[in-house]
Amino acid sequence: MNFRQISAAERTATMFPLQAYAFMSSPWPAGEEESYRRRMRFFETAVSLVAEEDGRALAGVAALRMRQNVRGLVHDMAGVASVSSHPSARRRGLVRELLQRLLRQMKDEGAAVSALYPFRASFYARFGYVGIPRQRTATFAPEGLRELVRAELPGEVELLPMSEGFRAYDDLTRELVGQVHGFAVFDEVRTAEFRDDKLWVAVARAEGRVVGAVRYRVDSYGGDLVASDLLHSGPLGRALLLQFFARHVDQVARVVVRLGPDEVPDLWATDFAVVTEGRVEYPRQGGPMVRVLDMEALTGSRAGPGAVTIEIADDDLIGGIWHLESDGSDGRSCTLAVTKGTNPAATLSAAGFSALLYGVLDPIEVVTRGLGQVSPAAIPALTSMFPRQMPYLFADF
Ligand SMILES: CC(C)(COP(=O)(O)OP(=O)(O)OC[C@H]1O[C@@H](n2cnc3c(N)ncnc32)[C@H](O)[C@@H]1OP(=O)(O)O)[C@@H](O)C(=O)NCCC(=O)NCCS
Repeated sequence: MNFRQISAAERTATMFPLQAYAFMSSPWPAGEEESYRRRMRFFETAVSLVAEEDGRALAGVAALRMRQNVRGLVHDMAGVASVSSHPSARRRGLVRELLQRLLRQMKDEGAAVSALYPFRASFYARFGYVGIPRQRTATFAPEGLRELVRAELPGEVELLPMSEGFRAYDDLTRELVGQVHGFAVFDEVRTAEFRDDKLWVAVARAEGRVVGAVRYRVDSYGGDLVASDLLHSGPLGRALLLQFFARHVDQVARVVVRLGPDEVPDLWATDFAVVTEGRVEYPRQGGPMVRVLDMEALTGSRAGPGAVTIEIADDDLIGGIWHLESDGSDGRSCTLAVTKGTNPAATLSAAGFSALLYGVLDPIEVVTRGLGQVSPAAIPALTSMFPRQMPYLFADF
């Protein structure tokens, strides 16, 4: 078996048949391969690996180059995608070998963290990943927001086709990476494909600054306005976008919009009827998963006060004993320092530590989920240093 990295141009001959068989209805129509080939310019910076036997690709994996905010620090992130193997080559460990090589390479190239959308969480749990919240949607009739229609808000919303609103939209996502825990964006090469999306974008501005943006389409007169994430840098941006939705009363029956984990739509207006739901189903709608690839790169993260030494067991990338210390020496907030340590007070899996860092599980939950052993003495420090804080991944891949 030959394992090698391939170029974006080689993906069409090697990975396309595997991915098309795995993820599309098949046999696929004649033009499918050509449209995949045309899209490959957006994968020039992706790292793609294949396993080949007798010159034929039997399995492939890829990592998209992304950036992600984790507790205030923006890291290079490996967005794992295109994972597939030929049915006759499955359960031979090919994808295991490819993923191990991919994560090692991405760490060596500077990625400190990784994320993916699993077809089944237990498969990626073996590779040290842990689940974070899946995006939810709010569904409501626009008249529910009637109190906003005539509100005098200090700002305005511009409606543009994506091709024209792309720059403002993309700039806002890049600003939010600096501000929002868990938020992730692709590099510019991969992002460029979305410039051509057949979507509207509503861009909210206040005092000349973009404070919100949402992409959407209207499926029919009297039907649904279907939006992707409601992106904003604060309450004014959100209010401007909701006011814009409210102005679709008598045009659409419902607005369906995707939300970050901190949004509480029931509080958007008085007498506001809304259904907020998060649906997780396998293999098509798994909640995202994340993991740490590089411990020392976490120095500088925002953490609560405390000090503790942990062992991360059975992991090629972050295994070892680590001393974690966080104090408020800069006088404002605490920052984490990660160094080699001795005498651990907790033994965690890579997934268990990733769950604490990303703020999705507390130390007791790490134990009850079978992701580690924590001595009673270590619980207060870990609880203080890694307070619960739900990450908002945003990027969909
Ligand atoms: C999922 C898929 C990529 C697995 O490929 P594979 O070549 O069979 O994987 P491997 O043989 O390397 O398996 C790695 C490990 O996962 C286990 N595993 C494989 N498929 C699994 C499954 N469906 N559920 C749980 N564990 C699974 C294997 O037993 C193996 O465990 P081990 O290392 O302890 O022996 C392949 O079945 C596939 O292409 N499926 C369709 C497309 C898809 O869903 N891709 C994933 C998108 S996120």
